[in-house]
Amino acid sequence: MAVDWNVYLSDAEADIASATAPEELAPVRAKYLGRDSELGKALRAIRDRDTGIALNDSRKQLEELIESRRRELERARLDERLSGDGFDVTLPGEELPVGTLHPTTQIRRMVEDAFIGLGYEIREDREVETVEYNFDKLAFASTHPTRSPRATLFLDENTLLRTETSPSQIHHLEHLEPPVYMVSIGRVYRRDDIDATHFPIFHQFEGLAVDRGITLADLKGTLLRVARTLFGEDRRVRFRTHFFPFTEPSIEPDISCGICGGAGCRTCKFTGWTEFGGAGMVDPAVFENVGVDPEQWSGFAFGCGLERTAQLRHDIPDIRALWEGDLRVLRQF
Ligand code: DAH
Repeated sequence: MAVDWNVYLSDAEADIASATAPEELAPVRAKYLGRDSELGKALRAIRDRDTGIALNDSRKQLEELIESRRRELERARLDERLSGDGFDVTLPGEELPVGTLHPTTQIRRMVEDAFIGLGYEIREDREVETVEYNFDKLAFASTHPTRSPRATLFLDENTLLRTETSPSQIHHLEHLEPPVYMVSIGRVYRRDDIDATHFPIFHQFEGLAVDRGITLADLKGTLLRVARTLFGEDRRVRFRTHFFPFTEPSIEPDISCGICGGAGCRTCKFTGWTEFGGAGMVDPAVFENVGVDPEQWSGFAFGCGLERTAQLRHDIPDIRALWEGDLRVLRQF
């Protein structure tokens, strides 16, 4: 029996208009536009152009009617919700929890920025080292106590977890001709007992500057500038003499204690100062180990702990706080 398309269309219009919710439109759509609907079947059976045009027009008309009714119904539903008693538009929205970078990562980035600002390049090196790079090429005496498995984590006789970032100096100078200005950052490992200032894994940043005519004054000026950047303009810096196998002379920079302002307290062991790291002028023996002529080039190096830096900057009394992942602590940064 032939379908009366005018009746078909007005039936469809009536059904669309009487839908009271957007979900009710799906069955109406299936009934008048679906594969098994009269229109669906007729569209598949089209033989002449005029019927094709007419049926396609009807299809389009119905699609548009359904779509505009859907929008209408959705708008009505939203209006109803917004005007209902249970909805207070002045209430704050649900907050998504947003994390922050770990304080050690924040300090790492600050250190990188400080040195990039001074023209240094940043590098990273392997954490599994050889005895040769961790000790021999850095001119450690064969009797140096750090060579002992009681102090250092060995994987086998010749392989160990690096105890410091200083091997980066060797890697850098073996591949690049001076002048060089580099800072290497990463993890180091020691067989230390855990306490308020020690943890067997920590991070260091290691600096190396090699150029013509570099002196101890350049080293002091650089460390002073970096300390001021990291800890603020009002912190005082002092340098004590020390010994390291790979520098001569060697010094240790101290930063005035931020907790007591230098007056002396428990954290600074009543000295008013906290040790910041080690430094010195590159020993000529190290230059010779990497084929750099110490008559032509001179340089300085320094190595400092990132966790120690975080402690000094934020006055954190216990280094363990930086490894425990306690959100009550981490949320403060
Ligand atoms: N590597 C030393 C340490 O871990 C720190 C250090 C001292 C690094 C003097 C240096 C340096 O580059 O010149 O205790």
